[in-house]
Amino acid sequence: MAKRNQWATGIGFILATAGSAIGLGNLWKFPYLMGKNGGFWFLIIYLVFILVLGLPVMVTEMSLGRYTQKSPVSAYRSVGKKATVIGVLGVLVAFLILSYYSVIGGWILKYIESYAVTFQAVDFGSYIASPVEPIVWHFVFMALACLLCYKGAKSIEKASKFLMPLLFIFIVIIAVRSVTLPGAWQGLEFMFAPSADSFSFGSITAALGQVFYSLSLAMGITVTYGSYLNKKNSIPKDCAVVAGLDTGAAVLAGIAIFPAVFAFGLEPAQGPSLIFGTLPKVFESFAGGSIFAIIFFILMLFAAVTSGIALLETVVSYTIDDLHWSRRKSILIVGLAVFLLGIPSSLSFGVLGDITILNYSIFDFMGMLTDNILLPVGGLLMCIYIGWFWQPGKLIAEMEAEGMKFRLKKAWLWCIRTVTPALILVVTILGFIDVYQKIAGV
Ligand code: PHE
Repeated sequence: MAKRNQWATGIGFILATAGSAIGLGNLWKFPYLMGKNGGFWFLIIYLVFILVLGLPVMVTEMSLGRYTQKSPVSAYRSVGKKATVIGVLGVLVAFLILSYYSVIGGWILKYIESYAVTFQAVDFGSYIASPVEPIVWHFVFMALACLLCYKGAKSIEKASKFLMPLLFIFIVIIAVRSVTLPGAWQGLEFMFAPSADSFSFGSITAALGQVFYSLSLAMGITVTYGSYLNKKNSIPKDCAVVAGLDTGAAVLAGIAIFPAVFAFGLEPAQGPSLIFGTLPKVFESFAGGSIFAIIFFILMLFAAVTSGIALLETVVSYTIDDLHWSRRKSILIVGLAVFLLGIPSSLSFGVLGDITILNYSIFDFMGMLTDNILLPVGGLLMCIYIGWFWQPGKLIAEMEAEGMKFRLKKAWLWCIRTVTPALILVVTILGFIDVYQKIAGV
């Protein structure tokens, strides 16, 4: 077997993994979910889930990647024939997620164009409801991701070492501006003081799905990264740093958004439009706000594109390995299919707005399907298979390679065998009950 390329430095690995984890999930989705689900309790549950669910799953996937030295589907296949389905499920979810991820990527592109041409944001509500332009920008986003995926990720990796920290700095600046707006304290209170508003079983399900989504779990991505990881790196430590950075980015995005939401009297539970409606107001309160806005949205676009490429690569490498397509053919076909699948999601903000599936708009249904069902099910199957039907001891040995000590191995084993699967099961069932009650109007 050919030796796989490895990251030259530990920090390069951490940045690359964090670069794929940090994306729209942190900047766009986390604030809007928190806004919809009552703030404080959503945040607390999210943090607990990161610890007892996100981290154990991440550690498992990464060590599986390094142990097998294979891409996800082959990695699962080598663990057991039946486990192949976990890898394939991950590929399917990556495909579905990318279809609506790219629609949001298109919104960002439009904001950049709008700020560059008119020095202000478009009227978001009427823009996303229009039938053609959002689809054109969704196409441009996908085309960009395909092109960069085809060209290879070397230069993107280099750029991300500089651009991701810059994005962090920009979010900090926005957060500082946001918390110094008059009336900002209400936003901080919303995030950090307990209140039971708009919190339901569904909120717990949303937090669970978001942990998978934000840490890029159950899609094979972490397995792939693990397969490139040097034996000298400590897997648990690296995972903890990546999860910490990812969570930090999400919370920071919340601090940048909510004080402004309350200061400007906006609706925290408005959903996917939250940051797109709020940030322009913050930028208006800056000197040189439109220039700042352009740079910020370019950085956000970069974060979205790096995540988009990771999602695309997951599907592409599967079709290359298992269907034996050429790379070019694979990127073209997968890219086109993702674009087409994204169109109904985009239109559901306008002409297809009346179509609902189980009371969800098409866009929301796609999100529910991937985040609240497929990702948790993938994680559940993985924990059960590795924990009970395979030998998790092999992964412990992998983590303790080169004389390293994995102090929390008992806790990890306990999590992936019992705590994590039980939690996923209970929370997913509660989520179903919640959905059922909403449909039945109980
Ligand atoms: N974690 C990314 C985000 O937060 C989304 C993503 C999922 C990226 C899977 C790559 C793979 O936006």
